[in-house]
Amino acid sequence: MMERDRRLQEVISDLQIETQAIRAGSERSPAREHSEPLYATSSFVFADAASMADAFINENGQSIYGRVDNPTVDVFCRRLATLEGGEACEAAASGMGAILATMMAHCQAGDRVVMSCGVFGATLTLLKKFFVKYGVTLDLVRPTDLDAWAAALSTPAKLAYCETPSNPMMEVVDIAGVSQLCRSNNTIFVVDNCLMTSVLQRPLQFGADLVIHSATKYLDGQGRVLGGAVVGSHELIAPITQFIRSGGVTMSAFNAWIFLKGLETLDVRMQAHCARAMELATWLEEHPAVARVHYAGLPSHPQADLITKQMRAGGGVLSLELKQPDQEMAWKFLNGTCLMSLTANLGDVKTTVCHPATTTHGRLDRADRHFMGIGENLIRISVGLESVEDIKMDCERGFQALSHSEVDHPPVTR
Ligand SMILES: Cc1ncc(COP(=O)(O)O)c(C=O)c1O
Repeated sequence: MMERDRRLQEVISDLQIETQAIRAGSERSPAREHSEPLYATSSFVFADAASMADAFINENGQSIYGRVDNPTVDVFCRRLATLEGGEACEAAASGMGAILATMMAHCQAGDRVVMSCGVFGATLTLLKKFFVKYGVTLDLVRPTDLDAWAAALSTPAKLAYCETPSNPMMEVVDIAGVSQLCRSNNTIFVVDNCLMTSVLQRPLQFGADLVIHSATKYLDGQGRVLGGAVVGSHELIAPITQFIRSGGVTMSAFNAWIFLKGLETLDVRMQAHCARAMELATWLEEHPAVARVHYAGLPSHPQADLITKQMRAGGGVLSLELKQPDQEMAWKFLNGTCLMSLTANLGDVKTTVCHPATTTHGRLDRADRHFMGIGENLIRISVGLESVEDIKMDCERGFQALSHSEVDHPPVTR
């Protein structure tokens, strides 16, 4: 490593997060490139048999094989670990790959998991349909109810798991409160930080043990590739690394390179997403067709004090409840829009819109959805970086598509 680069990496943890997102973890090759190199290779060669044996047997840090490690992926891991303030990071093929690896590494038959009911549909499916089958028991709690967390964690649990804010209800878990409960119970506390990212919320600072990312979302930021990651202590990450290497749910080097480019603009993008989401949420809250807006940046959010304590801003995702309660109306709204993309992804510069009850959470039992508060009239919007006036106008197209006789619509104006 060049002397200047070594000095920079020595001081990197003292620098601001927007600087870390651009500079942390970089290691220039002998070619002295400016942009991080993409090592598009499935394996690595050795000078002689002895050094090859040394790499395999002593794990001396030399790259061996793409499923085990890759220098581009390593830069991504070092950078994300710095951003989250963790000792170590392991990358995975997707957010779900990271969640699977975390559960596989830390849970076994007979273990109990306490989980917020406000988690991504596939996370709940993974636990309910698969881990339960292999002898892990699962108890769900309401994310916002600290007493329910306390009751659930008063009996032994191997792992506690939440997303905060939850998707799509934007309910906030008290990270410090739950981590305190976990500490006294020897429970590993895992927080999915996908919706906030490290620039808006750093769960390890509040006592979480592991932080999960679906890098697919804001870390990429432009909807190009899938990836996931887990950050935490060396001790907790080591078995996750072992699972990912053996199970093959590895992040590709190309995807890691895309995420490195995404991270360079993470801070400015998140600020812009937050500003637009705040403006849209405020406007929607006053709209006659809207019964309720769920957005973590609104002063009317029931957990505004907690949000100020643990989050820098409200993020880029919101959901709204239409006054008309049925699915037909929600679909009419979606079909009436044309700018917002009808797609399940979030965290993109392009605004996306979906109907959680029939898409992202459509495979869950109705009872589970109901427990999570996801009604037929709920619409989720991931606010992109287009003009907020254009996004409002597109929402207005959706509102106009609802029955004119049932709602008093304002005219579409700019
Ligand atoms: C909060 C959250 N966590 C995890 C995931 C899973 O990530 P991936 O799609 O990268 O597997 C998602 C996907 O939407 C998500 O929204």
